[in-house]
Amino acid sequence: MSTNILDNEKHHKNLMLIDTHLKSINDNNKSSFKKCALATQYGLIPEVRTVILRKWVLKRQTLMFHTDLRSPKVKQLKHNPNCSLLFYSQTEQIQLRFRCRAHIHSHNRLAQYIYNETTQHQRELYEWDQAPSTPHPYSSLNEAKRHSQKINLKSAYDHFCVCVCNFTELDCLSLKKEGHVRFLYKWDKHGTLSATTLVA
Ligand SMILES: Cc1cc2nc3c(=O)[nH]c(=O)nc-3n(C[C@H](O)[C@H](O)[C@H](O)COP(=O)(O)O)c2cc1C
Repeated sequence: MSTNILDNEKHHKNLMLIDTHLKSINDNNKSSFKKCALATQYGLIPEVRTVILRKWVLKRQTLMFHTDLRSPKVKQLKHNPNCSLLFYSQTEQIQLRFRCRAHIHSHNRLAQYIYNETTQHQRELYEWDQAPSTPHPYSSLNEAKRHSQKINLKSAYDHFCVCVCNFTELDCLSLKKEGHVRFLYKWDKHGTLSATTLVA
């Protein structure tokens, strides 16, 4: 049964709690909401991998992560921007599954702004001359660095991109001894939110 979210204290509280958990990634490096699984589809083949959540803005319905512009996941998202982000917190016993559309930002103001906030360590990930997921003859990045002609230190920004995932649905499952609780939140194109209780 769908309800108007604004009339419902229970949903308001639940969303505020989710907001607090996902905001915690900024001050708590050990937050279990820091890592999530990103699922994409390329043709008929699904693919899933771990990414680090870098930013969450509930009001804007956005989740963001950093990646390499040349990576297979970016190719897949450009081909089909529909994707899913999945979080599970063992501590909170909560699973969050977002249905999103991804937008890749590179060489623009947002990418530059976020790149300026990255650490040297993060930038190093993008300095590699060869595209991610292509085979190389070295067993580690350190070994590759010793063959420094393979590294182009200036190209990190060129390879860096921000993936902004705009979500329209959130399936929230809370595991509880007294009975699991599951809600499906949906935002329409005006940003109006509705909630449905689902069988867990
Ligand atoms: C804990 C963890 C965090 C990761 N975070 C990211 C990330 O934020 N961005 C990213 O592009 N890859 C990240 N990866 C690597 C991806 O999971 C994946 O292996 C790689 O990006 C290749 O994915 P693709 O071939 O689908 O593009 C992470 C891996 C692990 C294990």
